[in-house]
This record gives sequence, structure tokens and C-alpha cells, in this order.
Amino acid sequence: MRTVWRFHGAGELVFGWGAVNEVGELSTRMGAKRIFLLTDKTLLKFGIAQKVVSPLENAGITLEIFDGGEPEPTLPSVLKSIEAAKKFRPDAVCGVGGGSNMDMAKIVAKVLAHGGSPLDYVGDDRIPGPILPLICIPTTAGTGSEVSGADVFTDPSTQLKLGSLSNYLRPKIALVDPQMSVSCPKKVTADSGIDALTHAIEAFTAVDNEVFPLPPGQRSVYQGRHFFGDMVAEKAIKLCGEFLRRAVMDGNDLEAREGMALAATLGGLAFSNVGVAAVHALEYPVGGAVHCSHGEGNGLLLPYVMRFNLPARKKEFACIANWLGASTIGLDEDAAANQAIEAVEKLRGDIGIPAKLSQIGVKENQLHEFAVKAHSIQRILRVNPRTTSVEDLEKILREAF
Ligand SMILES: NC(=O)c1ccc[n+]([C@@H]2O[C@H](COP(=O)([O-])OP(=O)(O)OC[C@H]3O[C@@H](n4cnc5c(N)ncnc54)[C@H](O)[C@@H]3O)[C@@H](O)[C@H]2O)c1
Ligand SMILES: [Zn+2]
Repeated sequence: MRTVWRFHGAGELVFGWGAVNEVGELSTRMGAKRIFLLTDKTLLKFGIAQKVVSPLENAGITLEIFDGGEPEPTLPSVLKSIEAAKKFRPDAVCGVGGGSNMDMAKIVAKVLAHGGSPLDYVGDDRIPGPILPLICIPTTAGTGSEVSGADVFTDPSTQLKLGSLSNYLRPKIALVDPQMSVSCPKKVTADSGIDALTHAIEAFTAVDNEVFPLPPGQRSVYQGRHFFGDMVAEKAIKLCGEFLRRAVMDGNDLEAREGMALAATLGGLAFSNVGVAAVHALEYPVGGAVHCSHGEGNGLLLPYVMRFNLPARKKEFACIANWLGASTIGLDEDAAANQAIEAVEKLRGDIGIPAKLSQIGVKENQLHEFAVKAHSIQRILRVNPRTTSVEDLEKILREAF
């Protein structure tokens, strides 16, 4: 029996070389006159944020440029950005950067619209209505935050990454211009790129929409696996297989940059409707404690979680193997599925992402606590194709250690 599924994205998605030049006209059409532009010092230093500033200024929009964005934003930095925005009283917010800056812009747009603290909205579907009109312009190719209904920040007091999920968080306008990511250093390209792959693989192998385990009376932005999600996830995986290595090896490979920009946005569309699962649930406590990048933590953990999920998703893993360029001809079901894990391990190694948690500063005595914390993030974990106990999660972490 088929159940109802739906698909959300940004209000308008503009993709391609030069897309960023349209930001002035699109903002004006949206009715914006005062825009709070959230970016960071690195992007200003490289002249990347200016590619957004000029067309906005030329359109006569009054801008406040806030350069306090930081990688993997923490609650204190988020609060600073909210204070600055409140003083400026914008009618729209623009996030320019990787997932970190775009997420901060989302938090600003929701707190300015609804008041309170970012902590009030942590969880699934807890935003009461529309947020300030939001424009997101990615400068990495990875998170898909430009189309997603999610934001993430770290609370230093609990060392946990906290996320908010709501379709109200989806930007009104997503401008994805591959040119913006050309200056990304190798590590940022690799980490954010494997995050895109993780989004697509977790969505493509998620629990089915028909059996998505939602307790009665609860609502969820994630819906489990469905036809439309599969379609975009498949293309995202193929693009990562074709272009991620190339983008890391040669940042000026423009075809690879464009392929990865598209992969990231498609991965974002897939996961933000279907869901992410155990890889992300495990990365939240790991990243919160050792401050690795989100993508590095995900990329490291991905093959270990795939191995755990394999019994539930053999057919899908065989497809993934082929899409990542491995051959499954003549192999039985298990061997074909295993090829997907090997292909991801090979890709992870080729782009320089570590294979063991001990290499990124995790201590063995932290593993149990990480498993307990990950298990508490049920809004994500319930998307996983196999149910996971604390013991299962700890076992995965021990293998990854
Ligand atoms: N909201 C979502 O849907 C979603 C999804 C996945 C991840 N995330 C979050 O996104 C964050 C990670 O984002 P990210 O991987 O895009 O990296 P990032 O935003 O943390 O950026 C990493 C670094 O790269 C620099 N950088 C970015 N673009 C550059 C460019 N073009 N040239 C030179 N330097 C550049 C930044 O200044 C920063 O120092 C995490 O906080 C993660 O939790 C959010
Ligand atoms: Zn992610």
C-alpha cells in the first residue's frame, strides 16, 4: 500500500555559472529593502562574499554585512549574530558561505520572526510559522542547506550539536553558483563533498515511507524513503562518484566543481525530505566533542554504518556500488552490496578523510557516552533502515575506533 509523500525545496532554486549576479533582482522582486548578510572573514578576505554584495548594492538594497560566521557554529556566536541583526532590523536575511553560515542565517531569520532563543526550536517541526525571507548562497559543495529545512549549531555546555527541522526553514531563494566554490581548499572540498554523498546514501537507504515509525500525534519533516527522494539521491550519488575525487585533486576543474555543486543541492533535496540516519546521529556527539568538521566525521563513519545497514538494504547497496563506478557483474547479492562499502572506503581514502575515530582525537572511554547521546536523537535515528539500540551504536563506534 502506498502512503502519501510530499517534497519540499527552496521557494526558487537558481543554478549555474553567474547565478549569483541575479541576487539583486531576485531580492527586489521578493520585496526586500534591508538585508542582513551573514558571512565570515575568510570569504570576505577571498573576495567571495563581495560577489553577492555588489549586485545587492547595485539594486539599491541597504545591507548590514555581518562577518562573524564560523565553522560548525556554537551557540554564543549564533547569539551574537542575532543581537547584531536585531539592531539592524532587516526585512530579509542572506546567508553566504558553507553550511555553517547558511545555518546561522536561518537561525537569525527564525529568531527575528518568532523571538525566544535558538534552543526553543531544537527538534522536529517546532517553528510556529514563516520566518524572515531568506536567501542562501552556498560557497561549499556539500551541505545542501540552501534547500533544506534544517539548521545545526553546537551547544558548548553539553558538547552536542543541536538541530532544528522545519519546512519553514527552507530558503525562499537558493542561488547555487559553482563559481562560489572554486576557491575552496582541498580539505573543505573533501569534507563537504563527502557530506553530500552521505546525505544521498542515507536518503537512498532510509526506512521506507510506508513504514516510517512516527509515534501517533507527532509530526516530522523527514518522511522516510520515497520515489522522488530516490530519484534525486541517485543522481547525487552518481555525481559524487564522478566528480568528488576530481574536485579535490584539482580545485580549478570547473566541470567537477559544477558537478559537485549540483550533487550537494540534490543531496540536500533528498535528505531534507526523506531524512538522514545513523551516520548523522553518530556524528553529532562525535563532532560536538572533538570539533572535527561535520563532513569529516560523516565521511569517516559512513562505511561503518553502511556495514551495519547492509542486511536491510542489499539491493540498494548494489545500485550504489554501480553508481560509484564499481562492477557487480557476476557477484552474488552480498558481494555486490559489499562493493558499495568498499567503493566508499576507497573514495574516503583517496580524498584524505581518516578511517578511524582515534585519528581525529576520540578517546576510547568516550564511545559509550557518544552511543547514548546518538541514541537520544530519535528524530534522525528513526530514519535508519535498521532499528538501532545503544549497544548497536556503541558497536559501530568501536569498529570505527
Ligand atoms: N542545514 C543543513 O541542512 C545542514 C546539512 C549538513 C551540514 N550542515 C552544517 O553545515 C556545517 C558545515 O558546513 P560546510 O561543510 O559547508 O563548511 P563550513 O561552512 O563550516 O565552512 C568551512 C570553512 O571553509 C571556508 N570556506 C567556505 N567556502 C569557501 C570558499 N569558497 N573558499 C574558501 N574558503 C571557504 C569557510 O570560511 C570555513 O572556514 C556544519 O555546521 C554542519 O552541521 C547543515
Ligand atoms: Zn550532513
